[in-house]
Parts: sequence; structure tokens; C-alpha cells
Amino acid sequence: MKTTFFSETELEVAAQFLRSGKLVAFPTETVYGLGADAMNPAAVAKIFEAKGRPADNPLIVHIADPNQVLAVALEVPLVARNLMAQFWPGPLTLVLPKRSEVPWQVTAGLETVAVRFPNHPIALELIRLAGVPLAAPSANLSGRPSATSWQAVAEDLDGRIAGIVCGGPTMVGLESTVVDATCDPPRVLRPGGVSFERLRDVCLSIEPYRRDAADSPPATGNSPGLRHKHYQPRARVIVVSSATKDSEFASSMAGQNVAYYIGLQLPSNPAQFKSMLICSSTTEYAAKLFDFFRKADLDAAQVVFCESVEDVGIGAALLDRLQRASR
Ligand code: TXA
Ligand code: MG
Repeated sequence: MKTTFFSETELEVAAQFLRSGKLVAFPTETVYGLGADAMNPAAVAKIFEAKGRPADNPLIVHIADPNQVLAVALEVPLVARNLMAQFWPGPLTLVLPKRSEVPWQVTAGLETVAVRFPNHPIALELIRLAGVPLAAPSANLSGRPSATSWQAVAEDLDGRIAGIVCGGPTMVGLESTVVDATCDPPRVLRPGGVSFERLRDVCLSIEPYRRDAADSPPATGNSPGLRHKHYQPRARVIVVSSATKDSEFASSMAGQNVAYYIGLQLPSNPAQFKSMLICSSTTEYAAKLFDFFRKADLDAAQVVFCESVEDVGIGAALLDRLQRASR
């Protein structure tokens, strides 16, 4: 399949592609999404094929107006309304009871649907022009780091999808926070762009993300996608701390001569790394991690050392991705 690369002034054509059941990748504020008409089962099925995505991993439906939520959700509980008022548009996905019109391919057979109102002008304009909500997972091959630039999308999906909208790099760099609003109290299913601390300011009773719960076999309220392999570069990922000593780096590097390093502080042995990225904040680290993984792979790096971060704010999502990538 020939992939068409759209500029941001060609959204009308990209929207036509979507209306005719084709797949188009587009930027959001978190990561690039791989969009399809959420109401068209055949179009949605193509997403799973293009990504090599397991069929039991449901998709997020993207809308361009908060009122559009009722096109896919049966009702919006009060707690969800409060969260929407505070964080939409933005990197917060809400799991709600699903309308029967939403194809089961979108929700992997669940009675709930995940909905997101992204905060990105291109994404919003594209959804509006398409005139339908867009089902969109991250625009990467399943298991790979999410794509934070159109070039990264092309690396994984050129020739496998109909189109890519070429916007700039994404701001947040990690995926949205997923909150199950069908239970009381609501529960974080995936840490992401909106921190737990900010969610708790709006909803005091919200339950924090529990990694073990998300990894256990399917049960209502879990985020099925988190059971699968995720965010992994081909290089081995090793999480280290600022206290990691030369000798410890050396023993993990044994026989592996192309090593990369990303973190907030210089490691004790900077000369040993082929490439290093020292970020000035956790926010910058989050924004650049996936791109750094991809660069390491293009350079055939064998190992990427990643400095651990504090489990607060965006750090919680970053730590989650680091841990998953290092398995
Ligand atoms: O930031 C994001 O959320 C990006 C951009 C493109 O919007 N999208 C994204 O999609 O990360 P994806 O498919 O890579 O991750 C969707 C997550 C998965 O963990 C999936 O299991 C969960 O949302 N999910 C989707 N529908 C669900 C549902 N009905 N109940 C529980 N979890 C759900
Ligand atoms: Mg993904």
C-alpha cells in the first residue's frame, strides 16, 4: 500500500480517507494516533492488522467536542463530568458505559468504551472534518515505543496504512492517563499525561494505579492493553539510579559496546556512552524518551541505560514506561 503524507493544510483529503474507511495517523498532544472511523467495524479491524495488535486490547475513541461523548457512551457519571470539566481537552481518557452502536472491535467485546478529547488543533480539526469519532491507538507497531513524530510513525507503518498527517513532534510524549469512571470510586488504569495528584484535586476518592491489578487476567475495570508487551526498543533497557556506580554500569555492559544513556543527571562514567541525553526536567525526559529509544535502535545500540525518576507527577507515568520497557 502506498502511504500518502499529508501536510496540515490537507486535512480535508485526510478526512475523506477516514470517511471511506481508510487508516490515517495524526498528531495529538500525547503521541501520534492511528485513526479509523470508530463506527465502521471494517475500518477498525484494519488498525489491528496494521499494528499487529492483539484483538483483546481495546481502542480509545477520540472526539472533537465534549458533547460528542454521548455518541459513544450511554451515560456520563457525575464524577466523569467533573473530570471532563477540569481536564478536557487534554491527556485524560475516561472509560464509560458503551452505547450499543459502538462496534465490539473497538472495545474488544467490553461493555465499556474509552473516550478522549485531545488537546491538539490538528487532531480536533481532523475529527471535525471526518464527522465521526475516531478510534485511535498509538501509531506504532504493537510492542514498540509509541511514535512522537511523523517520522517515527513512518518508520513503523509506511506502506501499511493509507495516510500520515505530518504535524510537529508531540508535546507530552507519553500517552494519556486512563481512568475507569464506571466504578465508584473511579480508578486509574494507566498513568499518563494527567498526574494522579491533579486528578485527586478534583476527585478526592480516586484510586491510584495498581500495576499488579492491571497485569492480572481480564476482570472488569482493568486496562487490558497493559497485559501486553509494551514500549520496547530492540536494545535492552536497564533502569539505573543516580547512585549507580561505574562498576555496576560496567558489569551490565559486558560485551555490549554500543550503550546509550538518558536521565536527569550525568552518569558517573559519561565517556562510556556513545550517546547521552541529559534532560533538564522530568517533563522533558518524558517528552523525549520514546524518540531516544528509536534513535538508539537506528544506531543499533545494544543497551539503553535510563535513570529512574521520582514516582510523582508525570514521573509516575515515566517510571511505568521505563519499567515496562526494561522487562
Ligand atoms: O494518549 C493516548 O492515549 C494515545 C493517543 C493516540 O490518544 N492513545 C493510546 O492508545 O495510547 P493505546 O491503544 O496505545 O492505549 C489504549 C489504552 C490501552 O491500555 C487499553 O487497554 C486501554 O486504553 N483501554 C481502551 N479501552 C478500554 C476500556 N474499555 N476499558 C479499559 N481500558 C481500556
Ligand atoms: Mg499503545
